[in-house]
Amino acid sequence: MRRSMLIGITALGALAILAAAALAVYRGALAPQPVRPGTIAAGTYDPAAWGKVYPLEYDSWRRTAEPRPAGKSRYKPGWDTDRVVYDKLSMYPFLALLYRGWGMGLEYNEPRGHYYMMIDQLEVDPARVKPGGACLTCKSPYIGRLLEQYGPAFLKLPYSEAVAKIPAEHRTLGLACIDCHDHETMDLRVSRWTILAGLAALGKTEPTRQELRSIVCGQCHCTYVITRDEEMKPTDVVLPWAGSRWGDVSVENIIKEIRGSPANLEWTQEVTGFKLGFIRHPEFEFYTRGSVHWRAGVACADCHMPYVRVGTAKISDHNVMSPLKNDLRACLQCHVGPAEELREQVLAIQDRTVAVMNRAGYATATVAKLFELAHRERDHGRTLDPELYGRAREAYLEALYRVIFLAAENSMGFHNPSEAGRIAGDALAFAGRAEGYLRQMLAAAGVDVPEDVNLELGRYLQDRGAKHLNFRPEQEVRDPTGLQDLFVPPAARGLP
Ligand code: HEC
Ligand code: HEC
Ligand code: HEC
Ligand code: HEC
Repeated sequence: MRRSMLIGITALGALAILAAAALAVYRGALAPQPVRPGTIAAGTYDPAAWGKVYPLEYDSWRRTAEPRPAGKSRYKPGWDTDRVVYDKLSMYPFLALLYRGWGMGLEYNEPRGHYYMMIDQLEVDPARVKPGGACLTCKSPYIGRLLEQYGPAFLKLPYSEAVAKIPAEHRTLGLACIDCHDHETMDLRVSRWTILAGLAALGKTEPTRQELRSIVCGQCHCTYVITRDEEMKPTDVVLPWAGSRWGDVSVENIIKEIRGSPANLEWTQEVTGFKLGFIRHPEFEFYTRGSVHWRAGVACADCHMPYVRVGTAKISDHNVMSPLKNDLRACLQCHVGPAEELREQVLAIQDRTVAVMNRAGYATATVAKLFELAHRERDHGRTLDPELYGRAREAYLEALYRVIFLAAENSMGFHNPSEAGRIAGDALAFAGRAEGYLRQMLAAAGVDVPEDVNLELGRYLQDRGAKHLNFRPEQEVRDPTGLQDLFVPPAARGLP
């Protein structure tokens, strides 16, 4: 027993050393040659001007406008050569119920290439950009300059007025060289006040080059709060990282931060009437919380911007995309293939994550419907036990924020598989507690509760928003384990 453990540990150690060696080789010998400082003037926003000095990186950056190969990714279809826009609310119907009450519940699509970030924001349902100028924080490279010019009031400007302040030729310009690079040295840098304050909260003021290869992505691929005044007008954009540490921004702490102040509550959930916060694309927090790759020193750029050969030159691929869509090229610089085997490993992790996430999502949606029922009964004069109600609400919110976190994180568990399992499991447990309290409370109040609560998903999925979007059954992500119908029978979904 001891002996086999010892052999196991030695083997692991050898693996780790091998991996470390692979990393060193990867970064040293393969890395593009140090760049010569070009002649780019300070405050140059136009990527084409940077492209005069660095044409290869510019070309690969421009290719983020191209559709991706279709059929290679199971959970991140994005906008591929099939030209289909994937509707997250059809993919995960319980989200339509949970998010009803604001823009996210009307139109919410899978992400696509960086080229489209402003274009998609301009085209999305107007309810999504209701905060106004604040929405440009993560989309336009001009946000820093606009804030300097117009002060914090810029964040409150109606969206179209805010966009009109961007120079006309760059109103659709999203992620630009200036967002990530110093114009003289080409060193990586970040300048948005949001990430600078966030990093300061984590005690990370002088990041290394390798850390910057993740931080440049983390400046947008992290969750944020648009804080509001009494009239629900934006006052600031902040990362809810206070009280967390570098490499340890947990979902627990994010929830605690969000729930810590009424200024962080951004919307009212229709089905329960609860005022809530939200969690957006927490890739940075999720990945850096002790994932296997993070511990091994791997950065976002290692997987999403692998080195590629262009003619005789070698560059970092600025055509950032899902590694599954470029045949795991990045992975194969460290892992011995074959690519198909690695792909299977990724899909296996994602299948497991989606199964538990869906379970937790439907359980949480069921609780939301029970609250709706309870509120209706209360309006009809029934008395609800305040103690049980309070406990149910508390457990429900804990479940809901975890479901939102998992649904918003863009790797479907891959970035940190064990953390995904932990969060989904906790969400499910909280939802179970909440349902128990509510059933007890409703029974005591003399209300009959059916065993299978009808979710009426059709009500939330059909005829959504200004574009009258409908449920697209062919896009729904079915439970890969085939068990979901045992938890929520098809009839109780209330789908057309
Ligand atoms: C300025 C903000 C910003 C920065 C910085 C940023 N991203 Fe993004 N990223 C976005 C937005 C917004 C989208 C979605 C765009 C859309 O759907 O219109 C996106 C989309 C993506 C996608 C999906 C692409 C596709 O083809 O579907 C990947 C992968 C990605 N980002 C990874 C990264 C990585 C890795 C980094 C760092 C090297 C990074 N991003 C830096 C904002 C940013
Ligand atoms: C070890 C490799 C690895 C690292 C490191 C990594 N990712 Fe990923 N990322 C993946 C894989 C694999 C997927 C799943 C792609 C899929 O399912 O198509 C993914 C998915 C994504 C997506 C969604 C892509 C899409 O097409 O919609 C985004 C955005 C993203 N990662 C951003 C990041 C950011 C930001 C970081 C750093 C905080 C990061 N990734 C670190 C491998 C990695
Ligand atoms: C999302 C952030 C991001 C954006 C936007 C971005 N880059 Fe980069 N760039 C990187 C990263 C990460 C590296 C790798 C740097 C390192 O390892 O030190 C890099 C490296 C480079 C290098 C060094 C050589 C190489 O290829 O590794 C050049 C030159 C460069 N980028 C040019 C550009 C140009 C030109 C643009 C705009 C068209 C641009 N970059 C936009 C993140 C970005
Ligand atoms: C820069 C090097 C590097 C890159 C790039 C890289 N990995 Fe890894 N990967 C590692 C190391 C190191 C480990 C940990 C191995 C160990 O400790 O034995 C690891 C572990 C893993 C594991 C097992 C742990 C887990 O999280 O389940 C899988 C699966 C994996 N990698 C898949 C991928 C995929 C898929 C990609 C590309 C999207 C990728 N890796 C990119 C270095 C890398």
